[in-house]
Amino acid sequence: MSDRDDDREPMSTSDAAFLPRADLAGASILTLRETPDAVPAVIETARWLKGMPRASWPALLAGKPVALIFERPSTRTRVSFDVGVRHLGGHPLTLNSTDLQMGRGETIRDTALVLSRMVSAVVLRTGPHAVIDELARHATVPVINGLTYEHHPCQGLADVLTISERFPDTRGVRVAYLGDGNNVCVSLMIAGAAMGMDVVAACPEGYRPPPAVVEWAAAFGAPRGGGARVVDDPREAAVGAHVLYTDTWVSMGDDADRDRRLRDLGPYQLNEDLASVARPEVVFMHCLPAHHGEEIADGLLYDARSAAWDQAENRIHAQAALLAHVLAG
Ligand code: CP
Ligand code: NVA
Repeated sequence: MSDRDDDREPMSTSDAAFLPRADLAGASILTLRETPDAVPAVIETARWLKGMPRASWPALLAGKPVALIFERPSTRTRVSFDVGVRHLGGHPLTLNSTDLQMGRGETIRDTALVLSRMVSAVVLRTGPHAVIDELARHATVPVINGLTYEHHPCQGLADVLTISERFPDTRGVRVAYLGDGNNVCVSLMIAGAAMGMDVVAACPEGYRPPPAVVEWAAAFGAPRGGGARVVDDPREAAVGAHVLYTDTWVSMGDDADRDRRLRDLGPYQLNEDLASVARPEVVFMHCLPAHHGEEIADGLLYDARSAAWDQAENRIHAQAALLAHVLAG
C-alpha cells in the first residue's frame, strides 16, 4: 500500500469520466497498433491526471508492484515510470537486466512465467522487438514496451499528449518528423493516426519507416482527419507544419554506422531554415536525449517554441494513464 493512501481526497463524480476503461484491462502494449482506439481515452486520462497535483492522484495502482526492466540505458523512461507508479500508489521495481538471471541466459519464457507470479505488470526496454513479443506471449500480466529497436509506444503517447496541449483539436494537425525513420518515428505515426494527426516523415532512402506501418497509419488516420506519408524533402514536410519533430541520427545499436548516418542525415536537421516555412505557432519536439548541433540546431531546444521539456515531463502522465488503464479493476 502507498504511504499516502489515507490522506487522499475523495474523487468527484465528474472524475469518473476520466477513469480507466475496462476494455484495456489486462492488455499488453507493445506497438499501440493492438489498441489504437484506446489511445484517445488514455490521453484523456493523462490530461486528467496532469490537471491535479501528483500528491493527490487517486491510488489506482494501490498494492500493485510493477517491474521496470532495462536492457539499455534510460533516463526519462526509467524515472517517469518509477515516479508515475509511486504517485498512483503502486510499487515500482527498477531492474537492470545485468542484475537479473536474464542477463546470464535465463530464458525470456522462464522470466515471464516467474515475474507473472510476482508483479502486476512488466515494463521492458530491450533491443529486438521479438524479445518483447516473446515476453508478452508467455507473461500472464500486461507487458509494456519501454523501447525496442522498432517501436517506442510510451514515447508516442507522451508525444500526442504534448501536441494535444498545444493544439487541442488534434484532427489534421500537421506533424513533420525529420531525419531517421526509427522507433520514435514509427510510434509517432501510430499514435498520431489514432489522434487524427497528419504525420509527414521526411527521411532519405535507407532511413524510412517500414512501409507497412506507414500504410497502416495512413489508413487508420484517414477517417479520423489525419494521415501518414513519407517524403524525401524536409522542406516539403515542414511547409505549414504545426510541429517539427526530430530524434537522434544515431540510435542505441547504431553506433557502428555513426559517420555514415551523420553524412546521410545532415540535410534533415531541424533548424531555423525549416522553421521559417512552418506555421507561425510551430512547436519543436524531440524525444531526447538530443545531440545539439546534429539533428537539431544548437539552442533550438531552449527556444520559446520548444515543447521538448513538457514532452519529457509528459512521459509521467502518459505512462501513468496507460498503466491505470491496463491495470484497471
Ligand atoms: N526518450 C526516452 O525514451 O528517453 P530515455 O532513453 O532517457 O528513456
Ligand atoms: N531512437 C532513439 C530513442 C531514444 C529514446 C534510440 O532508439 O536510441
